[in-house]
Amino acid sequence: MARILVLNGPNLGRLGSREPDVYGSQDLEALATVLKSDAPRFEIEVRQTDSEPELMSWLFEAVDTKTPVILNPAAFTHYSYALRDAAAMVTKAGVPLIEVHISNPHSREEFRHNSVISAVATGVIAGFGFDSYRLALSQLTR
Ligand code: DQA
Repeated sequence: MARILVLNGPNLGRLGSREPDVYGSQDLEALATVLKSDAPRFEIEVRQTDSEPELMSWLFEAVDTKTPVILNPAAFTHYSYALRDAAAMVTKAGVPLIEVHISNPHSREEFRHNSVISAVATGVIAGFGFDSYRLALSQLTR
């Protein structure tokens, strides 16, 4: 069964209770349920970490196993050159990596307007709540 990694960065483990006005009231488990029902013929692995090296290690895994990635880098989006370099390894290996955001960072504080990841991502989807992930998934499974 083809696999897709859905990787989530810092603070996204608190989805559901964290700023529900911005991120909604559903948690990561609900996200996993909806993605799995959208793509039953794929093995969808939803993971979350607050650790930059762990998130990077999952991108190395994607390179080594040629597994497509949906990545919400969360706050790392805006400053982690280490994560950007790891994401570049994924797309340079010919493996798609779609950057997603629940909110639209461009409509928020100025520090969120820049993504160091976008330039090395296959594509970017932001601002549609959990549907940002679903849109990315539909692109990877078409
Ligand atoms: C986010 C947007 C980021 O600016 C923020 O740091 C997050 C979540 C989003 O999904 O909207 O943690 O990536």
